[in-house]
This record gives sequence, structure tokens and C-alpha cells, in this order.
Amino acid sequence: MKYLFLAISCLFSFISFAQQSPIIPQPAELTMGQGNFLVTNKTVIVTKGGGLNKSASFLQAYVKKMYGFVLPVSATAEHKGNIVLSYARMDYSIPGAYQMEVNKNGVVIEGDNEAGVFYGVQSLIQLFPFSKSASLSIPQLLVKDQPRFAYRGMHLDVARHFFPVDFIKKYIDFIAMHKMNTFHWHLTEDQGWRIEIKKYPKLTEIGAYRNGTTIGRYPGTGNTNTRYGGYYTQEQIKEIVKYAADRYVEVIPEIELPGHSSAAIAAYPELSCFPDSSTKVPAKVAWNGPRTGKQVQQTWGVFEDVFAPTETTFKFLENVFDEVIQLFPSKYIHIGGDECPKEAWKKSAFCQQLINEKGLKDEHELQSYFIQRVEKYLNSKGKQIIGWDEILEGGLAPNATVMSWRGEQGGIEAAKQKHNVIMTPGGWMYFDHKQTKNEDSVTIGGYTTVQKVYSYDPIPKALTAVEAKYVLGAQANVWTEYMTNTSKVEYQIFPRMSALSEVLWTPKEKKDWNNFEKRLLHQFKRYDWMGMNYSKAFYDPANNSTETTKNLKKPQNIS
Ligand code: ACM
Repeated sequence: MKYLFLAISCLFSFISFAQQSPIIPQPAELTMGQGNFLVTNKTVIVTKGGGLNKSASFLQAYVKKMYGFVLPVSATAEHKGNIVLSYARMDYSIPGAYQMEVNKNGVVIEGDNEAGVFYGVQSLIQLFPFSKSASLSIPQLLVKDQPRFAYRGMHLDVARHFFPVDFIKKYIDFIAMHKMNTFHWHLTEDQGWRIEIKKYPKLTEIGAYRNGTTIGRYPGTGNTNTRYGGYYTQEQIKEIVKYAADRYVEVIPEIELPGHSSAAIAAYPELSCFPDSSTKVPAKVAWNGPRTGKQVQQTWGVFEDVFAPTETTFKFLENVFDEVIQLFPSKYIHIGGDECPKEAWKKSAFCQQLINEKGLKDEHELQSYFIQRVEKYLNSKGKQIIGWDEILEGGLAPNATVMSWRGEQGGIEAAKQKHNVIMTPGGWMYFDHKQTKNEDSVTIGGYTTVQKVYSYDPIPKALTAVEAKYVLGAQANVWTEYMTNTSKVEYQIFPRMSALSEVLWTPKEKKDWNNFEKRLLHQFKRYDWMGMNYSKAFYDPANNSTETTKNLKKPQNIS
């Protein structure tokens, strides 16, 4: 009887799965049809309209790489029996809407704009099987789809640990496959400066390398005693920005100021309030190499030596931003603004005099003065700034967008002040947290399951409908103190990134955890098929106590 019940429930879940699509994020509207369509090397990708080559090339390259055959691309081939990429006007305020029909006569994808067509291609790819074959059978269906939020982001800290260009491209592919559109690239930190600036070569000669790294969880069990670092050349950055643009992903660089600037100060000590003071090394940590002079940090935390608000520093930052602006066509530049201790400014006679001279109340208003000067410069170059929510302290710069990370309060305040907001609250959007109670690798702490990520709604309840319009979207942050290699980064982001994509894309009323869980099982197969590493914490009922996980056979090596 028990076995009969099991067999029936398996059949039931198979049937319900067959009636669902395997698409993540869940489309706004989806109707499964009857029967299939076969994609073979005779199937032509027909581009009907300009600007469709990126989508056509992406689809062609994916099929070639994963299945080993080439779909021809043509602007003039007949539509019947082929995959047609085209445009159709759709009445959505956020760009990226598309519809896709698969029927016995082929596939038609129509986008509201180029990105919409690309998202249609991403959905089509998700219909393909997970085995190498000369003909790909896809189900007949009709999808009408559009994004819920305009800003759909993933952040990556490449300073605490450095990742090669090939992985950055892979990361951008992960973003694109989830119909997300922003890569927030955290390029400068206390532990390393990772972007070539031609006017200041010491930023990378000195600032891109540290003499060692804390071993284990802070304060650690020792030091690697090995020089560590690296940086991206301007040529590599241009290549990455183009790679991203070809996938409709915008790259937003972050240049941290006034805090988290030890690496820049190690290269150019005159940027500090106290150029002749040695970098403070936390007493509890093991250190490699000289303890005197300015040093690139070897351990994690928040450090007192920050940029001095001098004309020297502002000129330096303007020169740095002049080069950054040339490399990144994004509307936004992220200027950091978080975790800037005020000790040095309190002790500095120059800062105290500046506070008096400018009629500022305290060091928080001095930070606000600092940010506003940088904002003014960047605005004059046609760029908008994003800053972490500390930029609210001492008064918000007039045009700034706030990234709310210390919970939702900063986002709520900023929206009430009519400023744009991106939600990245730690409790839901920090993918450096552990995702299983049984975590056996070192993480920063926290506990954020895939189910918790899925439950997040970027619109805080405290906002009125009018205020809610200032919430552009949300983003997950990936701080890499405890991600020493690319495989660990993948483990930390998957499957949580798949849950996030649904938070950002799927209409709120269509979000359904029980339905997502079933599609997630299929998504795990996709990760395997594409060679992506991921956490299996989902299978452990200690993390998710839902119907689906209760009945699952656990794979080996959960965690
Ligand atoms: C942050 O996590 N310090 C923005």
C-alpha cells in the first residue's frame, strides 16, 4: 500500500511537472500546449529586424557548445519550421518583455526590445534537453512574459579574493541566464585594488597585492605567508564590459570611498590623514612581512585609515573616475560609502578645521560633504552615483541612489526622501551567509536558505504605493572573504541566485514556493548539465521542511 501510494505520488508529481514549464524565473503567463517541435541542424534562426544578431549568435553558440551542431542564421529564410526572432510592441513600462510561441510550425520569439528577444532566447534554451543530441525536442507552449523590476543585480567582491577574467565572464553568463541585467563589480578594498589606472600605476603595482592572508575564520589560525593579488587591465575590463553588453548586462563598477581604502593608501600614503603613520594591524591576527609603513590589509574587517577629505584626495579621485568613466558606459558609478570609521577624521587637525570652515555639524556631515563633492563631479560627467545606505548619514547627496544593506530601513528612508533605492538587505540578500545548518566550509556566518531568499519581497511594507516606485529592484551581494576559489563562489550563489531571479522577475502574485521547488529540482539538473557547482542544502529537511523535500531521496554529499 505504502509503495502504491509512493508510485501514485511520483506519477502525480511527474504529471504536474509535465504541465509546468521548466523555466526559471517563472514567466508571467504560460500555457503548455500538446506535442513537441524538433530543433535540428536544419532549423534556421531567422532574424526579422535589426539588432537581433546578439541574440541569434548567443543561441547559435549555446547549441554548438552544448549539443555540437550549428543552427544557421538568416535574415531572409522562411519562417515556417524555423526559430524566428522578431519585435512586437508590448505595453510594459519596464524594458525586456517578450512572448514566445512554440507550435508544430516552429518557434516565434517577439521582444519589446532587443533585451526582450534575448530573454525569450533564454527561455527557449531552458526547454532544451540535458543530453547531447542531434535533434532537440521542445514542448509546444505559449509564454507572455515581462520583468517585475528594472534593476536585477548580482554583486561580486573581487578584492578579498581575486577571480580570473574567464570566471567573470561565466558570472555574467549566470546573470544573463537568470534574466538579470546588472553586474555590480566591487573592484577596490582594503585587501586589494583590482583595476588598472594608468595615471596611478602604484595602485596596481603596490595596491593589488598583499603579503599574506588570514587562514580560516577571523581572527584565523595563522597567515598563508604568501603574496596574493591580481588586477584587471583596462583592456580586460573593456572585453568584459562588451561581453556583458552582448548579454544585455550592465556592469556597474564600485570604487570604494572614503572607507575600505587601505590598498589605495598603501600605494599613495598622501591620501591618508596621517601619511607617516603605519597601518594598524589587528593584535589578534597573524601578519606576514613588514609591520611598518602603509600596508595592504591581510585580514578582514573595517579599518581606521581612510581617505582624507583633502584637495589631494579629491583630485586623485577625479583622475581615477576620469579613467573609470571611459571604461564603463553604465549610467551609474557605485562609490561605496559604507563602514567609514571616523577616528582619523576626529584626530586630524585638518579635518576639524574643514568641519569648522564648512559649518558642518560633525564627521558624519563631513562624510556627506565628501560624497556630495564626488557626486557633483560624477554628475558633471553625466553619471549618477549609487552608495551603501551609510550615505544617508549626515544628509543624502542630491541625486544619489541608495543601496540598502543594513536591513530595509535605509531603503525605506531614502524612498521617503524621493531617492531611488536598490534593496540588498543582509538577512535575505547576502549570499556569503551559510545556507545550511550543517555547513562544513568556512563562511562569514548568518543563515539564509534558498527558501528565505525566495520569500523576499523588495518592496518594504512600510512604503506607500507612490514611495514604492523608488525601489528599482534588488541585488544579492557576494563578499568573498571566505570564497577563495571560483567553485566556492558557485556553491554560495546556487541555488539562491535562481530563487532571487524569481524575486526580481516573476509577478508577485505568481510567486509560489511549492511550484518553484519542483522547478528547482529540474534546475539542479541544469546546473549539472552546465558544469556549475551548487549547494545541496535544499535536500536537507533541516533547511527546508516542505512537502517536496520531505519525499526526496537525498543525493550524496549534501552541503
Ligand atoms: C557592506 O556589506 N559593507 C555593504
